[in-house]
Amino acid sequence: MDVSSATALAHPNIALIKYWGNSDDEWTIPANGSISLTLGGLFTRVQVTVDKALIQDQLFLEGEVASEAAQVRVRQFMDHVRRFSGKQMFCRIESTSNFPRGSGIASSAAAFAAMALAAAKVYGLPTDPCELSRLARLGSGSACRSIYGGFVEWIAGIDHQSSYAIPLAPKDYWDLVDCVAVVSTEHKAVSSREGHRLAKTSPLQPCRVQTASQRIERCRRAILERDFGQLAQVVELDSNLMHSVMMTSQPPLFYWRGETLIIMEEVRRWRNQGQPVCYTVDAGPNVHVLTLAAHAEWVREKLSQIAGVKGVIVAAPGEGAVLV
Ligand code: PMV
Repeated sequence: MDVSSATALAHPNIALIKYWGNSDDEWTIPANGSISLTLGGLFTRVQVTVDKALIQDQLFLEGEVASEAAQVRVRQFMDHVRRFSGKQMFCRIESTSNFPRGSGIASSAAAFAAMALAAAKVYGLPTDPCELSRLARLGSGSACRSIYGGFVEWIAGIDHQSSYAIPLAPKDYWDLVDCVAVVSTEHKAVSSREGHRLAKTSPLQPCRVQTASQRIERCRRAILERDFGQLAQVVELDSNLMHSVMMTSQPPLFYWRGETLIIMEEVRRWRNQGQPVCYTVDAGPNVHVLTLAAHAEWVREKLSQIAGVKGVIVAAPGEGAVLV
């Protein structure tokens, strides 16, 4: 039965093996598979409500009418929902998060995972996780991974049917913690959507893509064996490779700041001293420092002492998307 309103909640995720560039931009089919950890504590809640008076969808972020760019992105996503369901109705979509935008934690993954679930409920589409993962992918690629909790792999696939995420291990499998060192809260100059299109202009992208399955394999094994040393090696390598592609695109994308590199070097130094720590950086200057729960307080303290670090957000593994 269709409902006229549904609310869902989802968490952001941090990629351990990165998604960067598509083989098909229109359907968001990634050039390579990826692996992530869903982040607990942080969430985005999305309410989707049918409004018969509307002639197009209306998006509200934190209670305010969203920017035109955000409206367009959400309407494009909802057009897929309308096409799949055969129902032409428009909705009021209200999104609120408990973490600041621009905190270095991608809000689009949590938002589109929650939106996919709430919209599927309202439009009577299937709500099994595999189908939701495909749908969320059309809003933001990384959102397909936030449908699941814990450790998640996105199978790249070659078309809409074959590109979706699967769970690798539940959240309690390994007590990894993500300590995000925030060095800037400014909105990123180049969106990841634009970045994905530029990836193919880098001469390094073919090499990154061709070798991605080896890193996926190494990362999957490190997670399943709870081998922090192996995880650290492959996670840092993969982050550095993605940023090498970014820096060698036309035009080049430099997401790092001076502080980013300082933190990365500090993390390597701490690891050489025996601490279980490694870094990974997304499309922004903030550094995600992974560690084990027992070391999280030490890492948080050390990170906050570094000049230029404006704050540290600590997140343990979280659950998948749920209706509320
Ligand atoms: O889902 P998007 O289009 O916001 O792209 C995410 C890109 C990275 O965060 C840099 C990497 C990833 O796999 O999450």
